[in-house]
Amino acid sequence: MFKRSFMMFVVFVGVAFLAFADESQEKKMKATAIADEIINMRSSLAKTFIKPDIQITEETFKSVCGAVGKRVKEISEREGIKIRHAATKNRNPMNATMAGEAEILSKFEKDKNLKEIWDIYEEKVVGNGYYRYYSYIKPIFVEETCLACHGAKDKRPQFVIDKYPADKAYDFKVRDLRGMISIMIPITGEQK
Ligand code: HEC
Repeated sequence: MFKRSFMMFVVFVGVAFLAFADESQEKKMKATAIADEIINMRSSLAKTFIKPDIQITEETFKSVCGAVGKRVKEISEREGIKIRHAATKNRNPMNATMAGEAEILSKFEKDKNLKEIWDIYEEKVVGNGYYRYYSYIKPIFVEETCLACHGAKDKRPQFVIDKYPADKAYDFKVRDLRGMISIMIPITGEQK
């Protein structure tokens, strides 16, 4: 009798583990697709709208990083997930690094072959509780077209100088690490 219930227990744990592994795999694929969509969207919009000798205005921004910001909001709301950008040299103060993010950025800085980080993130909440998320993080690199707004400090468009007094997102070069995109998907049934 004891043997049988032990066997049942082993099977149960096995099935639970496989289900978790399966969910994790599915969520990773979803996160990868979202991160790729955002990174590729910004890159192709910049290629479309940034041409030599054009006057860069706030309208140009709305077609590039501004449009990306809107898309991020849309996807987060549709999927019920958190998506954020973080950078040590940030422009929007909301994108300054939070606990642990600077360490992750320095990993990407040191190892340019590190393409992604897939992990579980625990967010402490008031009291003893916590929320657990699948966490997917991908680095973002600077391309030629980004320099129109993230290049030399004194070449920044006027609207950037006016709107972002604490701006640090300049003086980048092509292939520099610009920042990272972080996607957090709640783990089903684990919210405490
Ligand atoms: C037309 C100007 C413009 C171009 C071109 C541009 N950006 Fe931006 N970018 C901005 C502005 C302005 C912000 C701040 C947005 C905000 O307020 O949330 C920003 C924010 C960002 C952020 C969010 C982190 C932060 O510093 O706040 C990332 C990442 C980023 N840009 C990467 C890029 C990359 C990569 C490219 C090239 C593929 C690029 N940008 C091209 C103007 C631009």
